[in-house]
Order: sequence, then C-alpha cells, then structure tokens
Amino acid sequence: MTVLIKNANEVITLKNNVRGPRTKEQMQEIAIVENGSVLIEEDRIVAVGALEQLEVDFPELVKKATTIDASGKVVMPGLVDCHTHLVHGGTREEEFNMRLNGSTYMEIMNTGGGIHATTKRTRETSFDELYEKTRKHLDIFLKHGVTTVEAKSGYGLDWETEKKQLEVAKKLQATHDMDVISTFMGAHAVPRDYKGREDEFVDVLIHEMLPKVAELELAEFNDVFCEKGVFTPEQSERILEAGKALGLTPKIHADEIEPYKGAELAAEVGAISAEHLLVASDEGIQKMAEAGTIAVLLPGTAFFLRAPFARGRLMIDEGVPVAISTDFNPGSSPTMSLPFIMNLACMHMGMTLEEVLTATTINAAYAVNRGEQIGSLEVDKKADVIILDVANYKQLQYFYGMNHTNTVIKNGQVVVQNGILLKEQ
Ligand code: NIG
Ligand code: FE
Repeated sequence: MTVLIKNANEVITLKNNVRGPRTKEQMQEIAIVENGSVLIEEDRIVAVGALEQLEVDFPELVKKATTIDASGKVVMPGLVDCHTHLVHGGTREEEFNMRLNGSTYMEIMNTGGGIHATTKRTRETSFDELYEKTRKHLDIFLKHGVTTVEAKSGYGLDWETEKKQLEVAKKLQATHDMDVISTFMGAHAVPRDYKGREDEFVDVLIHEMLPKVAELELAEFNDVFCEKGVFTPEQSERILEAGKALGLTPKIHADEIEPYKGAELAAEVGAISAEHLLVASDEGIQKMAEAGTIAVLLPGTAFFLRAPFARGRLMIDEGVPVAISTDFNPGSSPTMSLPFIMNLACMHMGMTLEEVLTATTINAAYAVNRGEQIGSLEVDKKADVIILDVANYKQLQYFYGMNHTNTVIKNGQVVVQNGILLKEQ
C-alpha cells in the first residue's frame, strides 16, 4: 500500500544528524516542516517534505498513493511507551482508596497488597483471559497514538507465571498491530514465601529463570526493582550481570521511593536506562550523564502516589538523555494515556513542549534499543505515523488532559481513523 499524507500544518520529523539518544539542546530540536507531506510505501517512509518536491522526486508513487488530507492538523512519529507493566491480572482500586485515606504504597505492599496482590491475581488468571485483557489495553494505547510498547513481566515471581506473562506479550506481538517489546522483571518483588531468604530467591532468578528466558527468547531486557525492602544494590547488580552474560540488556527501577544509589548502579553496570529516579542523587545523575544512561521518567507515578516528581529539568541540563513513559501498571500508574503523562512532564518536571516530544519518540525508542528503526520521520524508518487534531504542536499540551489522536498509521497501514479503531485486533 502507498500512502500520501499531505497539507499538514506541521510535520514534526525529529530528524537530526545525531545518532543515539538526544541530550541537552538536541532535545529541543524537533525539526518541523510546515505545510508538509509524508510519503509511505509498504511499511517504510519514502520521503518527508513539501508536496511539490515529492511530486518531482516520486511522481509514480504520488500518483498511485491513497491520499490522507491532514489540513489543519499535526503529523508526527507514533509515540513509544518505553516502560509499562502491561500484562497483569486484576485491578487495585481498593488500594487507591486506602491511599486516599492515608495508607502509603509501601505499607500496603508490606502487608500483602501492592505487587503481591497483583501477583496473586496474575497467577490465578488463565493465559486466554490475560491475553484478552491485555489486547483491550493495547487497543486503548493505539487509540492514544502509541505504536510501540515495552512490556515487563514481574507479576508471577514464579517461573510458570512469569513465562505466561512473557508468552502473552509474545503472542500479542504476533497478532496485534502494536509492537510489543518484552522485558523480564522476575526481580519485581521477593515472593512472600521467600521472606528472610531473599538471597535464595536471587539464586532462583539467576540460575533457573534467567537462563530459561534467554533460551526461549522471551525477552530482550532484564529489569530489577532496586529499592529498600525489595532488592539491594548488591543483589540487583548480581541479577543484572547474570542477565548480561545471557545477552539480556539491563534496565533498573532506580531510586523510586527512597534514595538507594540506583542511578549510580545503572551507570556502573552499563544499563541502557534507569527508570523512575524520583529521588535520584546529584552524583547518580552525574554518573548517568557520563555513561549515557537514558533516564526513563514516569511522572504519572509521582502524580498518582503523590510523591515528588523526578528532577527532569536538572537531568536534561546535566546532559542525561531523558525519555518519558506511562509506567502503566495496576498500582502506581493505572493510565494508558501517554498524552496525559506528557502534560504532567511539562507541568511538573520543568520540561519544554519540544523536550517532551523528543522524550516520547526518539529517546523512548533508544530506551528500548529501537532508535534506528522508529521514533522519527526519516527516510527508510518504519512507517509508524500519527495525525493529531490540533493546529500546532504547542496545542498538544495547551489543550491538556485530552486525546488528540485522529489517525494512526502503523507499519504503513491506517489502523485508527477519526479516533476509531478500524479492525478488531
Ligand atoms: O513501576 N516499582 C515497582 N513497580 C511498579 C508498580 C507495581 C505495582 O504497584 O503493581 C512501578 O511503580
Ligand atoms: Fe515501573
């Protein structure tokens, strides 16, 4: 199929000669083509620019293309949600209510709720139910302009259930239009029956689960919740090094609730990203900048837990490449709206309109090792393109708390039109 998007008020290309995640003022450069067009052939971008030029360069393709008129609208790369706990059983609105009445997140978790409650539900939920629930979630993400999602396991904490979560993600990668990228996060919590024997569980992760994840090719990344009362920096390092030896790239849930030198550890083990970082230290931020570790910031979690926001402004100024994501999960961030999270990043982390666009496209793509394939509208990149019903990119955050996604083109196919999903996935 050949598609021509034309007459867009603005095409935000994010084109840049920089290879790798963007830092500092590069995050500001979103490369806008006014009154622009995008030409797509099969699943690739063929050209981006003025229609007159495209007609000269590709007369045959332009003639045969299905045309989409984007007059009055903004065109940009599909959003990349690079940190979610996508596959899980159940919901936790009762805990939300408890928190509104004064309980804390860690109190709830330490008395068997939180991650433990979702682990119980996920163990009890069949593969087919889990698949169906997750499929519906992916439809909602797609309608919000997200075309790639990272999905972490970590609500099994036993091999059978971790495998079930990863296999649900793998099947959805095959059947759903969304691209789903898997992360093993068996180190999300210590199961309750291992209380007092935490190192034994670390051994199970290292000697039993991780080798099977690698052998069955169920994940690309290996993540750990490095947090006081969960996994220590030493345990986290062992788990991440073991994954590395098996070809799994490290990621870390770092410095989310209490400062714990998680950012420092991410830089030391060569993690592709450190995530959360609500209370990351100055030194940790410095080390991440030096190592080029991507900060995946999740302002929805700070919002929903009423915790301090990560210091996004400082991180960018210090040279850390920043990405933004929902952290979609049933406890600390039950939202599938990346556009809303973008609003929060502007309002509460001191990020500019342009930085937030960079953080949810090209930098997020690099955080899942896809920066060369997606995240910008450049020739030969995958044709993941969205059309937004706003007159210019500044209105995306100005009209806040709304979903402006009008059209989603995924792998060169129109999958959402006028905000409506075209086919049952
Ligand atoms: O990213 N920090 C740990 N994990 C999730 C929350 C998981 C849950 O509450 O179910 C997070 O915030
Ligand atoms: Fe998370």
